[in-house]
Amino acid sequence: MVKILGISGSLRKASFNTGLMKAAAAGAHEGVEFETATLHGIPLYDGDVEASDGIPEAVTALKRKVMAADGVILFTPEYNNSIPGVFKNAIDWLSRPSADITKVFRGRHFALAGASPGNFGTILSQNAWLPVMRTLGAELWSGKRLMLPRAETLFDQDGRLTDAEAADRLRAFVKAFADFAGAESGR
Ligand SMILES: Cc1cc2nc3c(=O)[nH]c(=O)nc-3n(C[C@H](O)[C@H](O)[C@H](O)COP(=O)(O)O)c2cc1C
Repeated sequence: MVKILGISGSLRKASFNTGLMKAAAAGAHEGVEFETATLHGIPLYDGDVEASDGIPEAVTALKRKVMAADGVILFTPEYNNSIPGVFKNAIDWLSRPSADITKVFRGRHFALAGASPGNFGTILSQNAWLPVMRTLGAELWSGKRLMLPRAETLFDQDGRLTDAEAADRLRAFVKAFADFAGAESGR
């Protein structure tokens, strides 16, 4: 069984990106165990809090999920042509303490996907993740790209993916990434 973790970078109930992640989980092929995660409960990073209280439980829980995965897909919204602060904040927490970067990120396979109402479907936020992934030593998979523009035409009001062609592209994306991550993990 290949373990894939999806993380949605939006806290919104009817989020396109959470909807995309849920559709990816629902449509995952046989042999793929697709777990999902959101950023709810992760506080703003504060070095004083880290020094006095350590790593928050919600961060530790997400770290464990990442470490259990053969591959991680970041479902990223785009804010002001870059990474939304809540998502970057969560990844920053995951990189603490820095001694854990090796076991959480180094050599682990990551992929990027996203949806937005704009015309370019998160291309700039996906690009903005590249130096972050490189800094953390993650293995970024670039075998396929998944950017869904004009998301309001592809999702319903509750954030469910309703467009059949987009769903097919999503399935192909997840399958290709899972095949790759599984082979790399010897599964
Ligand atoms: C502060 C802010 C900045 C935004 N900037 C962009 C942007 O640069 N490009 C874009 O395509 N959409 C932008 N949007 C629109 C988001 O793509 C849209 O709100 C989307 O629904 C967010 O993802 P979600 O549905 O997963 O929550 C922005 C939205 C906000 C709130």
